[in-house]
Amino acid sequence: MRHPIRSVGAQLSLALLLVVAIALGIVYVAVVPSLENRLVNTRVGQLERDAARLRPTIRQSAIYDPDVVATAAAKTGARVILMAQLSDTALAIQDSVGAQLSGDVENDPIAVETTRTGRAGHGTVQEGDDHYAEAAVPVLEAQGRYALVLRDSVQNQFGSVHLVQKRLLLAAGAGLLIALLLGYGGAWMFARRIRRLERAADRIASGRFDEPVRDTGGGELRRLADAFERMRVRLAQLDDARREFVANASHELRTPLFSLGGFLELLDDEELDEATRKEFLASMREQVVRLTKLASDLLDLTRLDAGRLTVEREPVDLSALAEEVAEEFRPAARGTEHVLEVSAPEPVFADADELRVLQIARILVENALLHTSPGTAVQIRARLSDDRAMLEVEDDSAGIPDDQCDQLFERFYRLEGTRASGSGLGLAIARELAELMDGTIELATRSGRTVFTLTLPAASVAAPPPFSREKMLPTGT
Ligand SMILES: Nc1ncnc2c1ncn2[C@@H]1O[C@H](COP(=O)(O)OP(=O)(O)OP(=O)(O)O)[C@@H](O)[C@H]1O
Ligand SMILES: [Mg+2]
Repeated sequence: MRHPIRSVGAQLSLALLLVVAIALGIVYVAVVPSLENRLVNTRVGQLERDAARLRPTIRQSAIYDPDVVATAAAKTGARVILMAQLSDTALAIQDSVGAQLSGDVENDPIAVETTRTGRAGHGTVQEGDDHYAEAAVPVLEAQGRYALVLRDSVQNQFGSVHLVQKRLLLAAGAGLLIALLLGYGGAWMFARRIRRLERAADRIASGRFDEPVRDTGGGELRRLADAFERMRVRLAQLDDARREFVANASHELRTPLFSLGGFLELLDDEELDEATRKEFLASMREQVVRLTKLASDLLDLTRLDAGRLTVEREPVDLSALAEEVAEEFRPAARGTEHVLEVSAPEPVFADADELRVLQIARILVENALLHTSPGTAVQIRARLSDDRAMLEVEDDSAGIPDDQCDQLFERFYRLEGTRASGSGLGLAIARELAELMDGTIELATRSGRTVFTLTLPAASVAAPPPFSREKMLPTGT
C-alpha cells in the first residue's frame, strides 16, 4: 500500500508549502519589528525637534503660566510638561493635561534624569500596557534645574504595525493555501503521468506488448515515455522472433524424430529381410545426422543471440582454407556429379577466426553442392581487394530469384523446391558469424551464376603462420 506522505504529489506540495512558509516567515520577521522601530523612532525624533524649538520660548516669567504648556501642546500634538528639581525630587510644575495628573512623569526615568542632570534625553517609556515616545530638554539653566518634557503615546504607531501584522498574516495564510493547492494540483498531474508509466512498465514486464506507451506532456517524463515505447517495440519484435524461432525449431526437430519413430516401428517386424533392414538403418542414420546438425546449428544460434560466441583474431590464409574445404568436399562433389574447382593462386590473409571462416566456407560449399543440379561447376576463389580479403563460392545453378536474395539469410528460410533435409539455418549462421568478425556475406545472382562472397578485413602479415589442420571444425559445430 502507498504511504500518503511518500507519494510524489504529497512530497512536492509539502516542499512547496515549506518554501512558501519559510519565505513568508522571513518577510514577517524582517518587516514587522523594523516597521515598529521606525514608526516609534520617527515620533521620538519629532518630539526631540519640537522640544528644541520650544526651548527658547520658555522664560522665567512663563514657568507658572499654564497657557505656555497648553499652547505648546496644541502646536506639537504632544503632552508638554515643565519639570523642576526641588531638593532631591523632580516635580512637574506645569502639565498640559493638568498638574494633578503629573505623577507618572515624576517617576519617568527620562524626565527625572534630564531635570536632575540638565542633559537632554529621549526614548520610549512604558506604563502598564501603554508605550510613550518622550523627549526632554533642560531649560532656564541660569535660574535652576528645569526641564521641558514632551511625551506622546505611540499606541497609534503600534496600531498601524498591528494592522500591517494582521494583513501580513492574512496574506501568508492565503499564500500558503494557494501554494498548497497549486503544489498539490501540479504534483498530482505529475504523479498521474508517473503512475501511467509505472502501469506501462508493469504491462511490459508481464509480457503484454500490444498497448503503446504514451505521455501527453513534455520534458523528461515525455522522453522517458518515448524510451519506454522504444523498449516496448524492441521487446515485442524480440518476442515475436523468439516465438517464431521456437515454433520453427520444434517443427524442424519433429520431422526427423517422427521419421525415426516410424523406422523403429518397422524394424520391430521380425519378417523383415536383411536388405530392407539395411535400407531402414541407412535412412535412420541420415535422420540422426540431420538431427545432430540441427542441434548444433540451434546451439550456435542460441550462443550468437546470447552474445556468448566469441571469435579469435588471427591471420587466416583464405587460399589455403579454400583448398582445404575443396579437399574435404571432393568425395561429396563426386557423389553429386559436381565439378569442384579452386582458384587461389596466391595467399590471401584475412584477420579472422580460422575455425569460424572454415564453418562459413563449409556452409557455402555445401549449399552449392546440394541446391544445384548435378553436373554443374562449383568454384571456390580467394582474392584480395583493397584492404578486404574475400572468399567466393560460385556455382552455375539456375540462380536465385532477386526478390528472395535477402530472405535467404533469414533463419529457417528455404527456397521452394529445396531438398527437405535442409533446415534453412546455414546462411543465417554464416552471416551472423561473418558480422561477428567485422565481415559481410553478399549474394550476387544472375541467371546461370550464383556467387556468395564472404568479405573479411585483410590481415597485414609479412610471414603468416602455416594453415593448421588440427583446428579444423566439423560442419555445423
Ligand atoms: N548456392 C545456392 N543455389 C541455390 N539456392 C541456394 C544456394 N544456397 C542456398 N540456397 C537456398 O537458400 C536456402 C537457405 O540456405 P541455408 O544454407 O540457409 O539453409 P539450407 O541449406 O536449406 O539448410 P541447412 O541449415 O542445412 O544449411 C536453401 O534452402 C536454398 O533454397
Ligand atoms: Mg545450407
